[in-house]
Amino acid sequence: MTQSGREVFSQMAPPEKRYQIIAESPVMKRIVQEGAQIARSEASVLITGESGTGKEVIAHAIHFESERRANRFIKVNCAAIPASLIESEFFGHEKGAFTGALSRRIGRFEQAHLGTLLLDEVTEIPLALQAKLLRVIQEKEFERVGGNETIHVDVRLIATSNRDLRDAIEEKLFREDLYYRLNVVPIRLPPLRERKEDILPLTDYFLERLGKGKTLSASARKKLTHYPWPGNIRELTNLIERTVVICPSTIIDENDLIFDRGFSLEDEVGRACPITSFKDLTLSELEKRHILETLSLCSHNKTKTAAKLGITVRTLRNKLDKIERGES
Ligand SMILES: Nc1ncnc2c1ncn2[C@@H]1O[C@H](COP(=O)(O)OP(=O)(O)OP(=O)(O)O)[C@@H](O)[C@H]1O
Ligand SMILES: [Mg+2]
Repeated sequence: MTQSGREVFSQMAPPEKRYQIIAESPVMKRIVQEGAQIARSEASVLITGESGTGKEVIAHAIHFESERRANRFIKVNCAAIPASLIESEFFGHEKGAFTGALSRRIGRFEQAHLGTLLLDEVTEIPLALQAKLLRVIQEKEFERVGGNETIHVDVRLIATSNRDLRDAIEEKLFREDLYYRLNVVPIRLPPLRERKEDILPLTDYFLERLGKGKTLSASARKKLTHYPWPGNIRELTNLIERTVVICPSTIIDENDLIFDRGFSLEDEVGRACPITSFKDLTLSELEKRHILETLSLCSHNKTKTAAKLGITVRTLRNKLDKIERGES
């Protein structure tokens, strides 16, 4: 990774995998510098940070800066796979291992042999499978579901989470021993509002890529630096993309910026105001709407939704069950 953060790093990576990491704030410069050292080691890395802070970008960078760059970088989105299929996703299965297993399937661990395996949203792995995962990490071998052959793998692990894993441990949703295995090197990506120096360089980078020659007025730039960016860098990319498409003029002014939530500079700095009026709703209706809207904002990822709402995944599940039963 480069020190300036503006250069394309990893010339070894195929073009579509080359990433620019914009890092102008002191904290991001330090992460980029440390990332280069971490990449050269074989240690497991745990990257935490709110949604959209760049966890996946950093994980890719570590792989493509490492000695493993010529081999595969495999990602498993643990939040997107149904609990019943996750074991076969990780370790593969033999033909006939279960109903529907029509042929042998090679799992993600095998695919990542000699490369890097990214366990995205690691807290979503069911507890029962966490025990098996721990054993595989320790012994570097496993059997495919329904198989007897022992498969040996050499995989570097990177895990990400948008919540503090120690909370998940306290809630008995995550094994402490697995946490210590994954958290050999921790990287915490701060939210964009805590590294405001990155906002305009990121904006310029996205404008270069998506801007169709359009520029931002001084007041528009000022407004961007005052917005709290609850969706972090992903929200900034979306805003630029959306605004460029919709704004007819070549110079984008502050009122042309289309935020996910209503926001004006007169708002208390650091607070975005939802446009919707809730005054006619009861408290429980308000809660239900807020939960469902947050769930949709988080692409139905329960871990992210719970973290955003400041409640545990278990509490969220209970509330969703109640909503489904019409009790809320
Ligand atoms: N430092 C950066 N420089 C340039 N682009 C970045 C940077 N960090 C993030 N991005 C861009 O922001 C978007 C979100 O990044 P990424 O997917 O890595 O976030 P994430 O933390 O994994 O989010 P989630 O928790 O929702 O999965 C991507 O389009 C990515 O390319
Ligand atoms: Mg991600």
